[in-house]
Amino acid sequence: MLNAQWVLLSMLSFCLLGCGSGSDPETLPEIESKQLLGDALFHDTNLSKNGTQSCATCHNPENGFADSRDADGVQGNTPYAASLGDDSTSFGDRNAPTAAYAAMIPEFTKVSRLRNGQQQATHGTYDGYLGGQFWDGRESNLSGQAGGPPTNPLEMGMDDKAAVVSVLKENAEYVEAFEYFYGADIFNSDEGAYDAMADAIANFETNDETAFLSFDSKYDKSLSFPSEYQYASESKAELGRVLFFSSDFSCAACHQSLALPSRKEPFTSFEFHNIGVPLNTELQSRREALGLSHPVDLGLANNENIEVEDLNVSKGKFKVPTMRNVAVTAPYMHNGVFSTLEGVLAFYEHARVRGRNEVSTIVNPETGSVFSDPELDMNIAHELLRANQLSLLGEDGRAEAIECFLMTLTDAKYEHLLDQAKVETCGI
Ligand code: HEC
Ligand code: HEC
Repeated sequence: MLNAQWVLLSMLSFCLLGCGSGSDPETLPEIESKQLLGDALFHDTNLSKNGTQSCATCHNPENGFADSRDADGVQGNTPYAASLGDDSTSFGDRNAPTAAYAAMIPEFTKVSRLRNGQQQATHGTYDGYLGGQFWDGRESNLSGQAGGPPTNPLEMGMDDKAAVVSVLKENAEYVEAFEYFYGADIFNSDEGAYDAMADAIANFETNDETAFLSFDSKYDKSLSFPSEYQYASESKAELGRVLFFSSDFSCAACHQSLALPSRKEPFTSFEFHNIGVPLNTELQSRREALGLSHPVDLGLANNENIEVEDLNVSKGKFKVPTMRNVAVTAPYMHNGVFSTLEGVLAFYEHARVRGRNEVSTIVNPETGSVFSDPELDMNIAHELLRANQLSLLGEDGRAEAIECFLMTLTDAKYEHLLDQAKVETCGI
């Protein structure tokens, strides 16, 4: 009796797992996990109209997952402010942020919260939006984000979701993996298959700890236990570390999430601010010459998920970017207007002076002229920007020290990309 029951049960469970489906679902597909499926999709140029681009083209895994191509699409020269599209002529209007550590970005929400630790004492509360993917937070999470580029005309340029799905179907390994991980009927609807693709890519971005979330910079190592790295006392990098977190400067108010300097710090508060960066006039003329309109970028105000009454106060605000790998992911800001950290730091001194209602004569070291007007002169975070108690410029090299500290936020696998002469002078 017991035996017969067992036979019946095991036959039943065998059938539940796939009697009559033809293939044995217990055999793992060639692509063995969602993460590996996402990895393959992330690198697949067939998902773009002309077959020239994958996610990895603009988020280069060899280069901090940012776009390291120049305006002609060539790797290795100075990276351009915006990304060349799959049609090899169009440009987007924003700089490609790193896709590394993007899994740490919380879903888009509106908050009123006390700032953390020391920042709370100095800068009180933050009322506004947090998180979301893209510079304006318009996609709430990574899978929503990953669905954007394939059909974006300025990026991978596919006609529609059905066109992307038909490319997926041409690849037998994909078909096998999609059906295994998302169900045998996943290709019954284009919408469903497209979402599964985005889900697999998001899975790769979230779970590949060595690629996207390695937390093995010198900074992380200095805080691991036992400590694997020590900032050399009296080095410029150590001075920069102290200045970055000190209440004499406001960097950490916007570029720190955790209460104390900790491992796995995201180096962004995920808040939205307008810091008043200048318009990128070169990018503007290049796009206009291509017949692409280039209005002032309203940032957060372009995000359809904000409340109507927040429209005006959102204009010109962008999500605070991470500082991880920042030394190897030039150019900088939503419009790529600066190509060096030296330029960024001189800009913050300019912003401090401007925030104090003084006339700034600070020169942009990249152009040799004084900084131009903000792209949008409203909602600027003057209060936080003028909170720097000391000048960043001058004899004692505070800007250089902060740059040295930022260099220590580079993942181990990208350290070879750092300027080795600077690594020496910084004492890293
Ligand atoms: C043509 C270049 C290009 C391609 C191809 C591309 N991206 Fe992007 N990516 C960008 C740009 C530019 C932005 C910022 C756009 C914005 O804010 O409106 C961005 C933003 C992102 C972000 C948001 C990060 C953050 O901090 O908010 C992630 C994640 C990302 N891309 C992942 C991907 C994935 C996954 C793919 C492939 C499905 C992809 N990208 C394809 C250029 C590209
Ligand atoms: C008021 C909040 C705020 C403060 C204070 C602040 N930042 Fe930022 N930071 C931002 C925002 C927002 C951006 C993106 C702005 C944009 O693109 O328009 C940014 C961009 C940057 C970038 C460019 C990163 C990239 O990937 O493009 C660097 C580097 C940077 N900040 C460093 C610093 C340092 C160093 C300090 C202190 C001297 C500092 N920030 C103070 C909010 C702030």
